[in-house]
Amino acid sequence: MRWRYFIILQAIILLVVSGLVYKHQDKVKLVKKPPTELAQWYKPENKRQVWLHNMFKLRREMQAVAFYAETKNAEYLQKWVVQLDKHYFKIAEMVPNWQKKLAVSTMADLSNASDKKDFSSVLVQHKVLQESCDSCHDDYQALTALTYRTPDFSKIQITPQLSFVNHMDTLTRQINQIKISAQDGNKSLALTSLAELNHGMNTLGETCVDCHKKDRKPYPNEAMKKTLSSLNESLESGTAKQQGRDLGTLAVLACARCHGTHRIAYGAKQKLVKEESFSDLIKH
Ligand code: HEC
Ligand code: HEC
Ligand code: HEC
Repeated sequence: MRWRYFIILQAIILLVVSGLVYKHQDKVKLVKKPPTELAQWYKPENKRQVWLHNMFKLRREMQAVAFYAETKNAEYLQKWVVQLDKHYFKIAEMVPNWQKKLAVSTMADLSNASDKKDFSSVLVQHKVLQESCDSCHDDYQALTALTYRTPDFSKIQITPQLSFVNHMDTLTRQINQIKISAQDGNKSLALTSLAELNHGMNTLGETCVDCHKKDRKPYPNEAMKKTLSSLNESLESGTAKQQGRDLGTLAVLACARCHGTHRIAYGAKQKLVKEESFSDLIKH
């Protein structure tokens, strides 16, 4: 008798939990996080982007295999199949957990067909293998790139005392102070705020070379400098319309462009790698 109550209670709990999950499915998204072993095949843990380069090889080898099977060139076909086999199994050498994702028998069938110069069978196995590539990519490709290849700003400091985010807040305040003071006719405060913004932008620009060593990204660049001086003029003697236009252009060039690349991607990465605490999960 007791057992029956116990089982009924369990069933009720299960129903409540699945009800909650179902009810919140529009608010919570489950994603498959890529295995952490991948980190060692990416910068900065590795000197090279080893994982990614193995993938580029696989794509090239798949193309060559299809090409030589279609043109019935047994010698070159065999050469590329050997390479494909090697780099395909490297996936599981690098991430042992992903052994189960490999189409081992398909790869073996493809090799055998190539040995026997059975070109049409090679093409059939090639197609099946491609489907297995695609299936792993569906689950993991985008999130792996986001996790391991998105530039990370968490360790970028403006000065030892000033964090990157706090400097961002200062820049926004300066821009808004310009706007507020210009609208309310306080020309001198608008101009000193612009001078401060100019200085703040130069300071920010010194952090770009941390990562942009070869592809120099001058910040502020020529277009931004032009807009800064045009804004200076319009604050001195221009109309409200000119001031608004210059300020808008500046915000796009100096802030929004970079945010489009760096802030969006970095923000998404932070969400993904953050360990959810239990209370966060409950709150959802
Ligand atoms: C077990 C998982 C897995 C399998 C199997 C796999 N890949 Fe990948 N592949 C990945 C991941 C993860 C990425 C994302 C890497 C990144 O962007 O940093 C990727 C990225 C790629 C890319 C780079 C895409 C781009 O342009 O940025 C190519 C090309 C590629 N894979 C080809 C292949 C081919 C061809 C096969 C099959 C022969 C294959 N992969 C099998 C996991 C896998
Ligand atoms: C933490 C490293 C890092 C820092 C700091 C950094 N970048 Fe980048 N940035 C990159 C990488 C890497 C790319 C290449 C694209 C990618 O993988 O997202 C990039 C791409 C860009 C792009 C888009 C692609 C292009 O070449 O036009 C712009 C614009 C850009 N960065 C501007 C800046 C500016 C301006 C600064 C300084 C205020 C800056 N970045 C600071 C790493 C960084
Ligand atoms: C490197 C390119 C880059 C440039 C140029 C840039 N930002 Fe940012 N900004 C970022 C990144 C990355 C973050 C996210 C930082 C974080 O969350 O740690 C950010 C975050 C912010 C935030 C949110 C801060 C917070 O408290 O969460 C504000 C506001 C901001 N930026 C304003 C600006 C303004 C205004 C400008 C132009 C004068 C500007 N940014 C130029 C990259 C840039």
